[in-house]
Amino acid sequence: MGVQENIEHSAAERAKFREMKEGTAQDWAIIGSEYRAFAKGLPERVLEHLKLLDGDFGGFPVDRLQHSLQTATRAHRDGRGEQYVVMALLHDIGDTLGSYNHPEVAASIIKPFVTEEIHWICQNHGAFQGYYYFHFLGMDQNAREKFRDNPHFEACREFCEKYDQAAFDPDYESEPLEFFEPMVRRVMERPLASMYAAAMEE
Ligand SMILES: [Fe+2]
Ligand SMILES: [Fe+2]
Repeated sequence: MGVQENIEHSAAERAKFREMKEGTAQDWAIIGSEYRAFAKGLPERVLEHLKLLDGDFGGFPVDRLQHSLQTATRAHRDGRGEQYVVMALLHDIGDTLGSYNHPEVAASIIKPFVTEEIHWICQNHGAFQGYYYFHFLGMDQNAREKFRDNPHFEACREFCEKYDQAAFDPDYESEPLEFFEPMVRRVMERPLASMYAAAMEE
């Protein structure tokens, strides 16, 4: 298909409304089919974004991509399941756009595809990771204590202790990103829970 033909094709496949309240079933059939195709590309977009962490050291002994690979590799070698390993791989992906709340960015991306506990670990790992360094920056080392009664406290403590805080070793032999790509694709293949899940049905 030539460029011009491609443009005409896509123009013919657009909704006609100027305000959503004018929308028709035909409009939404077009948008729904575009959405399904777009949503299938999510794993590739996430993997591309993760690569932005490559070379980003921020003063740490390893860059943020190596830290992510090392966290995921440690979790994988410890026998964790795919949802967990993918969470470990992506837990700091929000550093680029959520520089003041990065755990929430990653947690939002994985939320439709993982258990409540794995989502909770990701969402709150910042406070738990702080146990290892907040006191060096004039912050409260025990910030995680506000979650002490939460049923996921121990799981999050364990994630940070075994994998996240441990993943700054420049000599550790992590798996490459390609090793994890099929896992990301499998975990993100279809949402377990999302308000848009029904729209994914063909
Ligand atoms: Fe983090
Ligand atoms: Fe981390």
